[in-house]
Amino acid sequence: MAMIGEMDADSVVGYFRNKSILITGSTGFLGKVLVEKILRVQPDVKKLFLLIRAPNVESAKLRLQTEVTAKEIFQLLKKKHGVGFENFIEEKICPLAGDIMHEDFGLDSAQLRALCKDIDIIVNGAATTNFSERYDAAFDVNVLGAKNVCAFANKCTKLKMLLHVSTAYVAGEQEGLIPEKPFLMGETLRVGTHLDIESEINLIKEARRELRANCSTEKAEKKTMKELGLKRARHFGWPNTYVFTKAMGEMIMGHLRGRFLVVIIRPSIITSTLKEPFPGWMEGIRTIDSVMIGYAKQILPFFIGDLDLIIDVIPGDIVVNAMMVAMAAQLKDQQPQIIYHVTSSLRNPAPSALVVESMHRYFFENPLCKGRNGEHVRMKKMRFFSTLAQLRFYTALVYKLPLQMLGLLNIALCGVFSRYYNKLSRKYIFFMHMVELYAPYGLFKGCFDDTNLERLRMAMNTDQNNNGSYYFDFDPKSVDWDDYFYRVHIPGVVKYTCH
Ligand SMILES: NC(=O)c1ccc[n+]([C@@H]2O[C@H](COP(=O)([O-])OP(=O)(O)OC[C@H]3O[C@@H](n4cnc5c(N)ncnc54)[C@H](OP(=O)(O)O)[C@@H]3O)[C@@H](O)[C@H]2O)c1
Repeated sequence: MAMIGEMDADSVVGYFRNKSILITGSTGFLGKVLVEKILRVQPDVKKLFLLIRAPNVESAKLRLQTEVTAKEIFQLLKKKHGVGFENFIEEKICPLAGDIMHEDFGLDSAQLRALCKDIDIIVNGAATTNFSERYDAAFDVNVLGAKNVCAFANKCTKLKMLLHVSTAYVAGEQEGLIPEKPFLMGETLRVGTHLDIESEINLIKEARRELRANCSTEKAEKKTMKELGLKRARHFGWPNTYVFTKAMGEMIMGHLRGRFLVVIIRPSIITSTLKEPFPGWMEGIRTIDSVMIGYAKQILPFFIGDLDLIIDVIPGDIVVNAMMVAMAAQLKDQQPQIIYHVTSSLRNPAPSALVVESMHRYFFENPLCKGRNGEHVRMKKMRFFSTLAQLRFYTALVYKLPLQMLGLLNIALCGVFSRYYNKLSRKYIFFMHMVELYAPYGLFKGCFDDTNLERLRMAMNTDQNNNGSYYFDFDPKSVDWDDYFYRVHIPGVVKYTCH
């Protein structure tokens, strides 16, 4: 059990003064929220070294300018610094062209030596987040990437902490209360199986060798590698390649850690910012958002999901606040590793029915679809099936059967409907694939215990800062889900992902 020294907003802000932090994943959604917040609350941070995938420093700099600091989330900071913004960024951010897939991130030895002497904290947020990514690609980033980050961390002479961003769903489809427990090397979610990461590497190499020996096309290779990832994940009890490889990443972190503290942050489904730097900022369409957009565009009339259950979501700024407080926290007892669930299901669960109701209300009042003459189209409520069997039965009746009949007609008419038939078939297969991938989340019956994070919250003195706003709120109880989804998140999804 972690004993944590008392903190307040000032001491957390103060902790970042004169610190050098290496951050991976800064061009992603969560990375931007983190970089912006550190620079906004602690302009005296020494340096943020951002590892960005790019062929050289110039390209990394360009990516930083166009994909990070040019984004709306930096508006407040821009306003604060006015004409001095560019200079401020130049002084505080050092872009590094590198890739976590490579040993030492592919940095040259001079760069490496200088960095290793300077870095106080490493934040590893880089990942491939696609549920059904090719096994080799997901493994390279989420597993070998974690290994390379650890190896690099071991070379950093004054490193205090390695903070690794994982996901709460490394728990797979467990039910009941899920503790903030580390994975032991080789542990799986399926009784009777044992995971050997080296064997997985060999399996991937062998699959690649075979594909090349058979002169497979790129498309066929991709398909085989995606299938291999799902097959291996399911064999060991995880529902998809993403969470499986993230779980292996955690195992590696725990196994290879050095003298420094390893903090593993496990957020659930991260949604748009609740408050900071302003409500509703987000990037990328994932999980629940793709369902919402599919509904709003009227291409998804039904989906899988039990509306009697809850959905564990957590706004991005809450995750970043928790990360920053976890970095600043002084653990009184020597712990090699600590895990924090940054989740909502235990303290303030969001009922799925409420989320769906907010979605219906929002799009009934603000429909995205227009008719032929520009008039708003009347929206119908989306239908949810609470079991896969029900959904499969319904789709077989309403879609698969007519599709098979069209297939027969097409044969009888010497292929006149081939293009149309193939298009519908592809859509049907894609839809069913999405259903299978999302079902574990729509039907999730677990609840994430966040006792460690609660201890961190208890250690925070929640006095208001000078502006009267609380700088490091990471309490899900402060979210009114109905208001958040209707007024903040859904408008944010529409604004930032639909145009
Ligand atoms: N979003 C969620 O709902 C959610 C929930 C739970 C946990 N998480 C975790 O939170 C973290 C951040 O997620 P996110 O949503 O911000 O992801 P994201 O938007 O997809 O961003 C991923 C980031 O990782 C970088 N990256 C990928 N491969 C890399 C490599 N080989 N070397 C260096 N950088 C690489 C990407 O760089 P490029 O721009 O070059 O691709 C990008 O900056 C991830 O670890 C994810 O697993 C996310």
